Amino acid sequence: MEINDRFLRACRRESVDITPVWFMRQAGRYMAEYRAIREKYSLIEICQHPEIAAEVTMQPVRALGVDAAILFADILLPVIPLGLGLEFAKGEGPMIASPVRTLDDVHAMKPFDAESDLRYVMDAIRILRGTLNGVPLIGFCGAPFTVASYIIEGGSSREFLKTKTMMYSTPEIFHALMEKLAAVLSDYLVAQIRAGAQAVQVFDSWVGALSPSDYEMFVLPYSQKVLKAAEAMNVPVIHFGTNTTTLLPFMKRAGGSVLGLDWRLPLDDGWKIIGYDRAVQGNLDPAILFAPLSEIKKRVHDILRRAEGRPGHIFNLGHGILQHTPVDHVKAVVDLVHEYSAVKVEV
Ligand code: CP3
Repeated sequence: MEINDRFLRACRRESVDITPVWFMRQAGRYMAEYRAIREKYSLIEICQHPEIAAEVTMQPVRALGVDAAILFADILLPVIPLGLGLEFAKGEGPMIASPVRTLDDVHAMKPFDAESDLRYVMDAIRILRGTLNGVPLIGFCGAPFTVASYIIEGGSSREFLKTKTMMYSTPEIFHALMEKLAAVLSDYLVAQIRAGAQAVQVFDSWVGALSPSDYEMFVLPYSQKVLKAAEAMNVPVIHFGTNTTTLLPFMKRAGGSVLGLDWRLPLDDGWKIIGYDRAVQGNLDPAILFAPLSEIKKRVHDILRRAEGRPGHIFNLGHGILQHTPVDHVKAVVDLVHEYSAVKVEV
């Protein structure tokens, strides 16, 4: 077996031969191999069949030569055993059949045991550890706030008005829901690590909708609980959000050995705010992948220049790969990151 440990080494801020690179949403509709499987199975069916989920996880590893695999699943899967009902309607995104709006709704959520309720996720992890051939496997979950936003809104949202109305008008309901989710998501991450995930990422994709003081009061303690539960298992923990420029110091306090950065802040500025005692992941704008290769080259080089060859940089996008992204441009980024970081980038 050929071990590729540069991703895990970078998470621990150890020296690496070349900068590791992987992409959020590296499996998905921009790849023909994925679309072929989606013709036969729904998204949830793929997740619930461990062999198929494992195969989809492998697709970008084979096609792109990335330095890490991310388990194919979705942050909303725990909603199913919680009894809230989950559907991905065509063109509509996720839909929760029974949104949580009252204290009774919170208390009506079913008890959760990740190893038995989401056994199919754990089985996919166990299969992948056999087939990945030394490429590290990242498990993941949504952070309590981002998952809560779907559960309260009943689906995707722009303004998060139902979520914020609950926070500001009936904080006791919001805190009760976050408490429940923190326990569920901690258990879910720990189960993934026990099954064989070698690192985990906590996606707080929509937390940038909040001010720092609201983050501190309504989110930090619950994210902290999930992040600390994973850190106690001695694997790297990536803490990711978008629109987080003002939240980074608080996200650092919540936890994570690696902080994910979106593209709104230059990587060096973000790393300075976070401090060099943590690794960083990011931060190419996913839309750059639609630009000509000459522009992509400049942008990749710029990010590596800002990382200054400092140990602890994992190259990624600032958010997930978009649907119509040209696959050859994604592959080009992997090769460019490896090529440019092999020679010391001049600062
Ligand atoms: O390759 C990977 O990154 C692993 C798979 C993965 C999926 N979802 C599969 C998926 C991961 C890591 C996620 C995380 C996820 N899911 C997040 C956090 C990351 C982010 O992008 O901010 C969120 C917010 C969700 C919730 C979710 N799932 C939404 C809003 C949607 C619909 C939007 C869309 O693109 O259609 C999904 C569906 C989903 N999950 C797809 C994939 C590949 C879409 C493709 C499909 O329907 O086949």
